[in-house]
Amino acid sequence: EEKAAVEPLVGAVVQGTNSTRFLVFNCKTAEVLSHHQVEVAQAFPREGWAEQDPQEILQSVYECMARTCEKLQQLNVDPSAIKAVGVGNQRETTVVWDRLTGEPLYNAVLWLDLRAQATVESLSRRLPAGSDFVRARTGLPLSAYFSAAKLRWLLDNVAGVRAAVAEGRALCGTLDSWLIWSLTGGARGGVHGTDVTNASRTMLFNIHSLEWDRELCGFFEIPMDILPSVWSCSQIYGRMRAGALRGVPISGCLGDQSAALLGQMCLQEGQAKNTYGTGCFLLCNTGRACVSSEHGLLTTVAYKLGRDKPVHYALEGSVAVAGAVVRWLRDNIGIIETSKDIEKLANEVGTSHGCYFVPAFSGLYAPYWEPSARGIICGLTQFTNKCHIAFAALEAVCFQTREILDAMNRDCGIPLRHLQVDGAMTANRLLLQLQADILHLPVVKAALADAAALGVAMAAGAAEGVGVWSLEPEDLAGVRTERFEPQIQASESESRYAMWKKAVTKAMGSVP
Ligand code: G3P
Repeated sequence: EEKAAVEPLVGAVVQGTNSTRFLVFNCKTAEVLSHHQVEVAQAFPREGWAEQDPQEILQSVYECMARTCEKLQQLNVDPSAIKAVGVGNQRETTVVWDRLTGEPLYNAVLWLDLRAQATVESLSRRLPAGSDFVRARTGLPLSAYFSAAKLRWLLDNVAGVRAAVAEGRALCGTLDSWLIWSLTGGARGGVHGTDVTNASRTMLFNIHSLEWDRELCGFFEIPMDILPSVWSCSQIYGRMRAGALRGVPISGCLGDQSAALLGQMCLQEGQAKNTYGTGCFLLCNTGRACVSSEHGLLTTVAYKLGRDKPVHYALEGSVAVAGAVVRWLRDNIGIIETSKDIEKLANEVGTSHGCYFVPAFSGLYAPYWEPSARGIICGLTQFTNKCHIAFAALEAVCFQTREILDAMNRDCGIPLRHLQVDGAMTANRLLLQLQADILHLPVVKAALADAAALGVAMAAGAAEGVGVWSLEPEDLAGVRTERFEPQIQASESESRYAMWKKAVTKAMGSVP
């Protein structure tokens, strides 16, 4: 049977906290031709710990690729039209593996894992009070969120990791590195690399010189020879050595939040997006300027689209718990069966009835950076039911976004006039309406919820030696669709927000 002629295609792996996806795009129209998604298990072996199995993650990538290619064939499209693949990933999550066996030496320690808190406290005691040693180089506060702290914990606590390091067998990296190394051949010659955006989340990378920082590695006592080489987000890293796309170059690599910034076409200074995934991350492109925040935001590398291309920076407001609160209501409390049921449940009442839910499961990130905060639900009465709690959970996502948007406006000076949003939770129309109400600003939804996938495909397709995707903004006119306007008075937004702030103070310092 004759196959239909097709334009060149590009595939994007997005390895998020909750799921792995593979999407195939038509490079000329940016349209998704086929995709597949697999949920990835998370283990919480102890209070504050969160892990995933790196092998399960790798297999989920192969499975998504194979199933997507099968679906393409059913559409009469030859998967050999896929000219490049990119990798986008949950950031900070840390893996250490054995380069001789290809086996992980421990589970992946997830970004939201808090086990390294004691490590961070003892490290911070080594610095003079108020020192900006870490922040000045990395743009990040010293926190258990970032990879260096997790890596230090692994070196201190896992004998197998220590032995492999001593014997020169250990390699480490964020999930992009683990995946790229494995996909390009693993123990039989895999490429050990990462990109500048992922590197900028390790707390070991100097965001000014764009190199691993010798003094930071010394401070955290991380041997530099276990770290990956750092490249741009858009260049050929290597070729797939197995699976349905064997031989295809991997030519894009970005942290998922950078990828979403690109996929939302926020390529100009001052453009910002908010992505609602497991957490919620608002990034504002600050162009070539490395702006440091006065209000609890991070400075991070936004992207560098080619070996010789300039680096762009971003200010970032990070919220640890967004979609995770929905997963928690589903898995731990059982008031919903599937994540999407939350919208219907919350809509039954259309109000939290004065109930406030601060889901500080992993402490609070921006703008507080308070690891001792813990979750609370307050304002309960005899009348409160599960619908109100569902509503309060959605409102919590919106209030947290308001806090980071306020910080962003203060740092940038020019307030945002609308908020561009993407991520799986944007399928929830109630959430987006609530967000517009609470911000008292229009909220503009991306046409493709998985904006990160589009950004990954753009970076991979545009790489030197691939060149099937041009990064002209007009290529992607119309990436935004629906607009949600505020429907309540500004005074009501303010009073609800004031109550939220009060609830946050109660969540603080809940851990002695
Ligand atoms: O910093 C963590 C972030 O990259 C995780 O993203 O999409 O899994 O919430 P996500």
